[in-house]
Amino acid sequence: MEVIIMDTYEEISAAAARVIADLVHNKPDAVLGLATGSTPLGLYKELIRMHKKEGLNFSKVTTFNLDEYVGLTPDHPQSYHYFMNENLFKHINVQPQNTHVPSGTTDDFFSFCEWYEDKIEEFGGIDIQVLGIGGDGHIAFNEPGSSLASRTRVKTLAKQTIDDNARFFSRAEDVPVYAITMGVGTILEAEICLLVANGKGKADAVAAAIEGPVSAACTASALQLHPQAMYFIDEAAASKLKMRDYYKWIQEKKPDAPNC
Ligand code: F6R
Repeated sequence: MEVIIMDTYEEISAAAARVIADLVHNKPDAVLGLATGSTPLGLYKELIRMHKKEGLNFSKVTTFNLDEYVGLTPDHPQSYHYFMNENLFKHINVQPQNTHVPSGTTDDFFSFCEWYEDKIEEFGGIDIQVLGIGGDGHIAFNEPGSSLASRTRVKTLAKQTIDDNARFFSRAEDVPVYAITMGVGTILEAEICLLVANGKGKADAVAAAIEGPVSAACTASALQLHPQAMYFIDEAAASKLKMRDYYKWIQEKKPDAPNC
């Protein structure tokens, strides 16, 4: 696990975007796993800037999103399809047919989930999976109690997630109760997992994920089992880490470390 702590949200967003940009430069047909929510917005803004100002080319890139609300059509303003179009896809030159967001309105969720997993495999797997973290430690919509071996499926959202996401809906009762989500097992198969977190509200979840036991009670903790998990977190989100100084020290010493 690599824990990169920076002062501000802007810094972590730019640093995380740089990792993705380097991948796309080196592998133009990279497969990106994408997340929604407020946290990756800064990262997406930076990718858009790099596309417009530095010519970062997404024309051969394929994307797979983590999740979607059950019941929301792609044109619903709170759907994750809509979010991705508005906040990333329409501003870069990714080909629409190369973008994949789980369907919230399929009439056969079971078959759709299998198809989604097969599709990821068909493209050779995900190179970098972008992740946020929920206040209860969830990644994607893998709520506490989700199997750490879970695959893409329909999940019932936890009360806390529904409450957290109510801010995006005009009425709390409009927040969907179910979501289709990649599983923890699906996420762990990505080559690199890149989690971004900012703000005090994420401090407990970040500490549990990085320094707590690996447990279904905090599904982000499964990243401890991943060989290339990167955390980009600001000081506020890092404020409850016991080994904060050590993570900072590692980053400070990184440029002089021998290659192995
Ligand atoms: C969304 C997703 C969720 C969010 C998490 C944090 O695609 O996968 O796990 O990353 O709920 O959301 P924000 O960033 O809004 O705090």
